[in-house]
Amino acid sequence: MWEYTDKVKDHFLNPRNAGTIEDADGIGEVGSLACGDALTLYIKVGDDGRITDAKFQTFGCASAIASSSALTELIIGKTVEEAEKITNKDIAQYLGGLPREKMHCSVMGQEALEQAIKNMRGEAPSKAEHSHEGELICECFGVFDEEILQAIKENDLKTVEDVTNFTKAGGGCGKCIPDIERLLAEARGEGVCPAPSAEPAFPAQGMTNIQRMHLIERVIDEDVRPKLKADGGNIELVDIDRDIVVIRFLGMCSGCPSSRATLEGLVETALREKVDPGLKVREG
Ligand code: FES
Repeated sequence: MWEYTDKVKDHFLNPRNAGTIEDADGIGEVGSLACGDALTLYIKVGDDGRITDAKFQTFGCASAIASSSALTELIIGKTVEEAEKITNKDIAQYLGGLPREKMHCSVMGQEALEQAIKNMRGEAPSKAEHSHEGELICECFGVFDEEILQAIKENDLKTVEDVTNFTKAGGGCGKCIPDIERLLAEARGEGVCPAPSAEPAFPAQGMTNIQRMHLIERVIDEDVRPKLKADGGNIELVDIDRDIVVIRFLGMCSGCPSSRATLEGLVETALREKVDPGLKVREG
């Protein structure tokens, strides 16, 4: 469970400036519904170059709504040049802080603002993904190298987990992790290619908690569930607490006298082999 400040809760429950501006001077769209977070920011700029109005529409978690709301409060009344200097850190600071795992929501706000200003100047379409020229690093979340490098630089990120917390890159299938490591090395001035690392001792070694969780879900979906369904049963993932995976058997598997054997012989064996040999599976 995330710990939210009172200000985050307030902006989530009473978002400021939610909505759209029909005749907006600039529109910035970032994220996508498929990735779980999306934000559209509208800005209206007066003749004196000050932002007179800002509104947002967002799809996302409490932090995404609070960050968007805070962003509008921060930029209204500022000149465009002043607003341009606002970083994701300013958004998080305004809210009294965000859980580290939710910092990507503040980054999304900063990116939407950059896009809206570029759009106002005629430098970019409203959709952020159309204006990227760099290399797509994370296909799962549509994150480009320039976004990752900017997040690393502005927030002094050191690890892949940091990058995932701030940009979401690497939080899905994990395929882009070597590229994220390369960008981290590049940002440290270590050259483009980090030394090849030894083969991991087990598949989940080096993964973030989110990646490990996705891998556990995938093994259950692909290796366990089809076998149970063939016998009229099913399985539900209830919780993951460090090395304990809690599952529930459904259908014919529920209350089956052989469920203990299925748990150990099928579920636990598959997860130990394909994720981490230290995992234990319990029914809950
Ligand atoms: S490609 Fe980045 S997590 Fe899947």
